[in-house]
Order: sequence, then structure tokens, then C-alpha cells
Amino acid sequence: LASIRAPFNDIAEGEQVTVMWRGGPVFIRRRTQADIESARAVELAALPDKDARNENEPGAEATDPNRSALSAPVNEGVEVPEDVRASLIVMKGNCTHLGCVPVGDGAGDYNGWFCPCHGSHYDAAGRIRRGPAPENLHIPPYSFVSSTTIQIG
Ligand code: FES
Repeated sequence: LASIRAPFNDIAEGEQVTVMWRGGPVFIRRRTQADIESARAVELAALPDKDARNENEPGAEATDPNRSALSAPVNEGVEVPEDVRASLIVMKGNCTHLGCVPVGDGAGDYNGWFCPCHGSHYDAAGRIRRGPAPENLHIPPYSFVSSTTIQIG
């Protein structure tokens, strides 16, 4: 399938679901306020990869808003509260080193995801912070097609 739809409204704060898109996993995580604040507090200069790696915003800087669902288009007539969009992050679930699936839900030294294959640590915005992975976790193209559902692809 070229695109899939996935509900996000029943993902509890601090939890993540994984859906399959084009043969690979995509993480949809509803972050806590503490996650968001820790990700926003990081200076761009501290990031090994300063590109948001976001297909919705090619070339954008890897700030937390540019990585979160605040960057995703909202279809006409659809309303999704800003705090909900700020809490959501949607990313391809493959490590940018050699493609293993990182462990989520606050794993690793930066409260985000950890790839056990060779030890890459990603933060609460899915940005690489330490380890061999060269890039932030990639963000697929997606949009809000209703107040409860995103479409990926
Ligand atoms: Fe993730 Fe190597 S594949 S660290």
C-alpha cells in the first residue's frame, strides 16, 4: 500500500505504537510534557545531525517542533489541538546505522530510543545523540486526515 491510516487518539501519554508502512516499522509516540521539555532544551549545536530528516519539511533544522507533528500538514476542516500535535512524533523505526529497530519508550541515555545492535542513543525527539548512527531517525510524509487519525504516505 502506498499509504496507510493510523489512529493516534488512543495512544496514552508516554506510550508508543508501531505500524507497518512500505514493509518497515513506523513509530507513533505520544510524548509526555517532560519529554517535550527535555527535547526542546537541547541546543542545535549539541546535535550530531542538525537536519530534521523530515519529509514534511525537507532541509529544516532538527528542532523539536520541526521533528514533532507540529510540522505535519492538517487537512482542511480538521482540527487537532496544538498540544496534541506537539506531543506526537512519527518516525521510521529503523536505526540510521544499519537498520535495526531501536527500543523505544524512553530507552537509552537520552530518554528516547536505543538501538541495541551497536549502541546508538536517540533522544526524545528521535535525534541521534551518541553512537555510530549518522542521522536522526527519519520522519515519513504524513498528515492529519481527521481529529483522531493520521495518514502516512
Ligand atoms: Fe543501530 Fe548499528 S544498526 S547502532
